[in-house]
Amino acid sequence: MSKKVINQLEEKYNSIGQDIDTHLEGLLHSKPITYWDYIQTDVLLNLQVPRTSLPDEKVFIMYHQVTELLFKMILSEIEQVAKHPTLTAEIFTDKIMRVSRYFDVLTSSFSIMKDGMDVEQYNKFRTTLTPASGFQSVQYRKIEVASTELINLIDKRFRETIDRNSSYENAFEHLYWQAAGKDYKTGKKSYTLTIFEERYKDEFIRFTQFYNKNNLWTKFKALPPEVKDDQALIKAMRHYDYTVNVKWVMAHYNTANHYLNIGGETAEATGGSEWVKYMHPKYQKRIFFPDLWTKKELEDWGTNI
Ligand code: HEM
Repeated sequence: MSKKVINQLEEKYNSIGQDIDTHLEGLLHSKPITYWDYIQTDVLLNLQVPRTSLPDEKVFIMYHQVTELLFKMILSEIEQVAKHPTLTAEIFTDKIMRVSRYFDVLTSSFSIMKDGMDVEQYNKFRTTLTPASGFQSVQYRKIEVASTELINLIDKRFRETIDRNSSYENAFEHLYWQAAGKDYKTGKKSYTLTIFEERYKDEFIRFTQFYNKNNLWTKFKALPPEVKDDQALIKAMRHYDYTVNVKWVMAHYNTANHYLNIGGETAEATGGSEWVKYMHPKYQKRIFFPDLWTKKELEDWGTNI
């Protein structure tokens, strides 16, 4: 080993009050790393616990797990933008393109859900999943909050009138997805939503507080004018917005239609939402970066696909 590396190691361990000799001796006894220990394959491959013996339930579980892993990768990229001390157009574009590629994969692979399960099997095993729903994916909710300002995620019916400085608590109650978790006549929250809030509300509000000023849209708007005019960056932002809020949403909606609309009859979803209306992008008009679209594009959102 070169003297330089030994010095650096000495420095490293001294700085935390550790004896380098003990650490070097430890190397004599430690096992070499293997692929399976590093990737944790045994743990990973034991995370699939079906509730039925129907084979296609495994497709359903694993594809959700794959999606959650990609959601985690997306959140990690966004966090790097949020915490970057000296953002440039290149860094911003590079990160947005990474996030977009993950969502491209999620969109094109959604056919695994739509065409990869037997409809009859699906409609059997899904009865054992009620009242759980992808609606309870906290990472999906976090991606939205980390991507744009809260006002763009407020239910369209309240967007014009809500006080933009209202508390996080009040904003939370008016987020678009609250509608899917409430009985629209009584306003009472469903069990699916109530249990989600019990588990995640505090953590989600803390996350929202950080991203209030650090989300992608606010970060973009704070860039110098010449950077904001960068055409590659604008193209990347629009690509991301469209992929998440139209393409993925439509792939999801088409899948729900495939399994839950049988002979023109719409079945009730496990999360109990009025899903036909709730899931189509033309009703919600969720748009992360509204100023990057023309008036016509905003009006037609979700209708040309
Ligand atoms: C057969 C496949 C699927 C069907 C039939 C389906 C159906 C639905 C329905 C009907 C909803 C509305 C809420 C409810 O009432 O339950 C929903 C919400 C949701 N699902 Fe799925 N889903 C499927 C696969 C997936 C996958 C693979 C993911 C990936 C994590 C996912 C993530 C979500 C998310 C994030 C929501 C909330 C969306 C929002 O609030 O706009 N779903 N799903």
